[in-house]
Amino acid sequence: MEDSLKDLTWEKSLPDINDLSITIPQELVEPCPNIIIDEEIDPNLLSDFKKTLPYKRLIDWSKSNLSAIMSSPGFSLLKVSDYKLDNDKLKSLYYIIALGLGTLNDRYGDLFDVRDKKLDYKKEAIPVSKTNASTGFHTDSTALEYSPDIVGLLCLQPAKIGGESILANAADLYLWMKQLHPEDLDILSRPIIRDVITPGSQTDIEAIKKNRFPVFSFVNDSFKFRFMKYWIISGHNRCNLEIPMELKRALDRIDDFFKKKDNLSYYSMVRGDILFVNNNFICHNRTKYEDYDEPERKRILVRTWINQ
Ligand SMILES: [Fe+2]
Repeated sequence: MEDSLKDLTWEKSLPDINDLSITIPQELVEPCPNIIIDEEIDPNLLSDFKKTLPYKRLIDWSKSNLSAIMSSPGFSLLKVSDYKLDNDKLKSLYYIIALGLGTLNDRYGDLFDVRDKKLDYKKEAIPVSKTNASTGFHTDSTALEYSPDIVGLLCLQPAKIGGESILANAADLYLWMKQLHPEDLDILSRPIIRDVITPGSQTDIEAIKKNRFPVFSFVNDSFKFRFMKYWIISGHNRCNLEIPMELKRALDRIDDFFKKKDNLSYYSMVRGDILFVNNNFICHNRTKYEDYDEPERKRILVRTWINQ
């Protein structure tokens, strides 16, 4: 295995999210039209806007301001200065900035509403994004064949209580483990079964057994972390397979790293906030939340999955 982190030793490299926000310049926000009809991106409105200078300026701004940040520190928080923008305008702006970072994946639709559907991921194999539960630290996508490079989240409505975002750097985790617990690296570098939860995909036991990949890997010399503890455990359970002791110990060790507050960065998104995280090495978590009673005030984040 190529080891692009081999010369490094562990130290916390994750800055505080609050110290790193960028405000989207108003002169880029204002000319961005609404390109949404019936909650969907309208291809004609988008292609008309693509012919204009304001589109080019917004894409250039996204590329030149965000691309480097996605490599280090691996996340960016964008804010709008105009808080009166409506949902469609915010989503249009977010969508075009996301296009500046790469190609959007449409497995769940280009823009996917993360909201509580009153479902329980512990009773059925559904994404935690459809519940109000804490997600635990994870990277997005549990499918062998697909993993987004960048996960974007736009906040349209925060929760009444909770729903705080927490980030951790898995490259730090890897180096910490290598230095202090090297015995756990081997099992985490081997393919490990994950549950299959993508809607429409085959979910029989054979499909789950084939859905295996490492937690830590180096693809073309680039570090990649793919993790969600719950889907590793439920994948084994559904296949009636005992979790090996070695793996149990390594998963507990990962928990130990995530329990140390010094390794984490916390942020409560407010309306209009856009958070992009590099899904290859920044993992995210969300605390459990409680919604307001009014239907129009339920928590909504709009997710994008982007590949570079
Ligand atoms: Fe997620």
